[in-house]
Amino acid sequence: VEQTYIMVKPDGVQRGLVGEIISRLERKGFKLTGLKLFQCHKELAEEHYKDLKTKSFYPTLIDYITSGPVVCMVWEGVGVVASARKLIGSTNPLQAEPGTIRGDLAVQTGRNVVHGSDSPENGKRETALWFKEGELCEWTPAQAPWLME
Ligand code: GTP
Ligand code: MG
Repeated sequence: VEQTYIMVKPDGVQRGLVGEIISRLERKGFKLTGLKLFQCHKELAEEHYKDLKTKSFYPTLIDYITSGPVVCMVWEGVGVVASARKLIGSTNPLQAEPGTIRGDLAVQTGRNVVHGSDSPENGKRETALWFKEGELCEWTPAQAPWLME
């Protein structure tokens, strides 16, 4: 089943947006299978963002992600990776559409409140990176037959 790793970044936690962000994904109909508050250390941040290592903003990105607790989540469902990216909106919040999380709740790329995996492969990779075996919960939501025919 398709999985995506979604993370409320430190600014989202500090600004009290955790409930709002979870709520948007929950209302869409995806299934939450992992959830924790976590203080990310440098090594993990570097592994997570290793593809961006050569970018000029990389050091500030690592400082940002490790600057306070994050909320780590795994969401599952058909098409969840692309759909969550749509709900999140463009990387630059000033370009993100109204109605998206970043479009409604953020103003700057370097403080864009939430992360979402960009492919099903990265959804699996990031889930394995941020969650230990046994931390994920497989369950059948009561609403399942009312979401999918
Ligand atoms: P994520 O879901 O967090 O991976 O964002 P994304 O996929 O929309 O963007 P990308 O993977 O290209 O970049 C990862 C993160 O690096 C972004 O979400 C920003 O927080 C940060 N970032 C990207 N570009 C810039 C930039 O030009 N300046 C700064 N300060 N941060 C950037
Ligand atoms: Mg990305």
